Amino acid sequence: MRIKSIEEYNTEKSNFDNDPERFWEEKAESFIWKKKWDKVLNWDFHSAKINWFNGGKLNITENCLDRHLKKRANQVAIKWIANNPNEKSISLTYQELHAEVCKFSNVLKKHAIKKGDRVCLYMPMVPELSIAVLACARIGAIHSVVFAGFSAKSLSDRINDAECQALITADGGFRGDKITPLKAISDEAMQTTPSIKTCIVLERTKSKIEMKNQRDYWWHHEMASVDNNFPAEFMDSEDELFILYTSGSTGKPKGIVHTTAGYMIYSQYSFQNVFQYNEGDIYWCTADIGWITGHSYIIYGPLLAGATSIMFEGVPTFPDAGRFWRIVEENKINIFYTAPTAIRALEAKGLDFVKKYNLTSLRVLGTVGEPINEDAWNWYFKEIGGGLCPIVDTWWQTETGGIMISNLAGITTAKPTFATLPLPGIKACIMDDSNSEINENDIEGKLCIKYPWPSMARTIYGDHKRFIDTYFSTFPGYYFSGDGCFKNKDGLFRITGRVDDVLIISGHNLGTAEIESAIDEHNNVCESAIVGYPHSIKGNGIYAFIICHEHPLNTDKSNEEINKLIVKHVGPIAKVDKIQYVNGLPKTRSGKIMRRILRKIASGETTNLGDTSTLLDPTIVESIIKGSINNN
Ligand code: PRX
Repeated sequence: MRIKSIEEYNTEKSNFDNDPERFWEEKAESFIWKKKWDKVLNWDFHSAKINWFNGGKLNITENCLDRHLKKRANQVAIKWIANNPNEKSISLTYQELHAEVCKFSNVLKKHAIKKGDRVCLYMPMVPELSIAVLACARIGAIHSVVFAGFSAKSLSDRINDAECQALITADGGFRGDKITPLKAISDEAMQTTPSIKTCIVLERTKSKIEMKNQRDYWWHHEMASVDNNFPAEFMDSEDELFILYTSGSTGKPKGIVHTTAGYMIYSQYSFQNVFQYNEGDIYWCTADIGWITGHSYIIYGPLLAGATSIMFEGVPTFPDAGRFWRIVEENKINIFYTAPTAIRALEAKGLDFVKKYNLTSLRVLGTVGEPINEDAWNWYFKEIGGGLCPIVDTWWQTETGGIMISNLAGITTAKPTFATLPLPGIKACIMDDSNSEINENDIEGKLCIKYPWPSMARTIYGDHKRFIDTYFSTFPGYYFSGDGCFKNKDGLFRITGRVDDVLIISGHNLGTAEIESAIDEHNNVCESAIVGYPHSIKGNGIYAFIICHEHPLNTDKSNEEINKLIVKHVGPIAKVDKIQYVNGLPKTRSGKIMRRILRKIASGETTNLGDTSTLLDPTIVESIIKGSINNN
């Protein structure tokens, strides 16, 4: 399945152009199926109905685990590295991982979880999280992983949206020098989640916690008495594999739904090709499994390809800023995949932390989640890769399931700040404001995809209309990514960032609406508007413009209270960096906040604000500008 040369790359591209369905069918043939599909593809981008490999029966875990047992039973599948560098790492071979997944499948079955049920996982980055994900897939339950940095409110909203029957959590989680009290947060969440009948708790931090009779069970007790065999459930190609929540421009988070066969095929295909994975490579993606990157490129992609995937519990700066590089040296990592925000944060700590370690095992470097600036790209290339490792700048989204636009390491050309070209099999295009496709080069517009790909999201859980409205209605007949894009004179794609109200902060997707409604909980707040502004480490910082009933006497105290509310309602990742108290917000006559103006002011631009003629009260803008100058 791997493209090994530029000639093969060109052949693949033309194979796809000539017969797209045959192209994907060929990829599908390398997997284990319990029954072959009847039809490769049915699709309609107007009703947003997409079916791949209809009629096929399979189980993704047989492809991740069972099919490798003949050849690599004793090869390490997942190597886990603890937050504390003195704690022993854990390696699970394919055989061992298979046994653990089967055991946990039996535990889920014992608790009456069956095919189609939703199971929420709110866990630290420990091997048991991967085991639980795969066990859900093995029994046919739909996993919904919630990032363990989210608050009780965010957790309960996500559980309720999907009506999850079970919650898998831990007593606590280690991250750097902090412990997150996951069970206490889960307890608070479960006060408002009537659908949860069972909660399984992993012992990790040995924190003191409450266990509720007949609902809460210890992971180790449950695992002690179950069999290590479990026949994988027969799943339809289009049966739901998982839900993963992502922020929207408005309203509550969207439960993005991925289905079984297409996601499986594309995650292995993109993993092998983008990173040019070679048999025996040690691969490390530093993401958290709470995000799509962890789903596709810590668990599914690497395991499908039979790789050794490293899983790290901690943070890049604990116990010091050399931690990543120490892990690279100790584990002889060959392929390393991280986010620009981590690169910038580590660059800022100085080279001493890098120079201490031998990084010569590295062969391929990757970045994901946000645009990478040229300075960070150069530092990564020179100081981490020693000028020898290709960097793959991978553009994709929770909704795309896998990497869509990227160079293939060492096969196609890399160019700093450019994701470069769509993978063979992906038809990306750029649209102008009058909704037409622009075919020339050296242009800027909105990034769309005009032909289905196997791992695309199928719906928003429980709200197909929102799925159509969000992704398929701006440009009828096209999937709209929400990103702006520049295509240079050679046809290479550079992602310029979101064109909607989604913020990408440290590579994490946050919705303005969620943060604003948390701020609005403050009893002195009338209204608020959140925008992003350039931030040297995080890519974007969060700037809040807030109207209060009474101007706060003590702004520091008020700022602190507002951030506390954000932590409570969303989580610490959404804390705002700057707050400006204002008398009004720039609104159009129809009452819509003109965020474009606020974005400019937050970035320090006070002239050139563009067309303000539709504003209800243009004087508001002047007073905000004055205040922003005082605020900066
Ligand atoms: O704006 C793009 C940005 O991240 C968004 C998707 O976020 P999420 O669904 O959380 O998935 C992140 C991990 C795949 C995109 O709409 N983004 C992602 N990768 C890049 C990027 N922006 C620029 N360059 C990238 N390589």
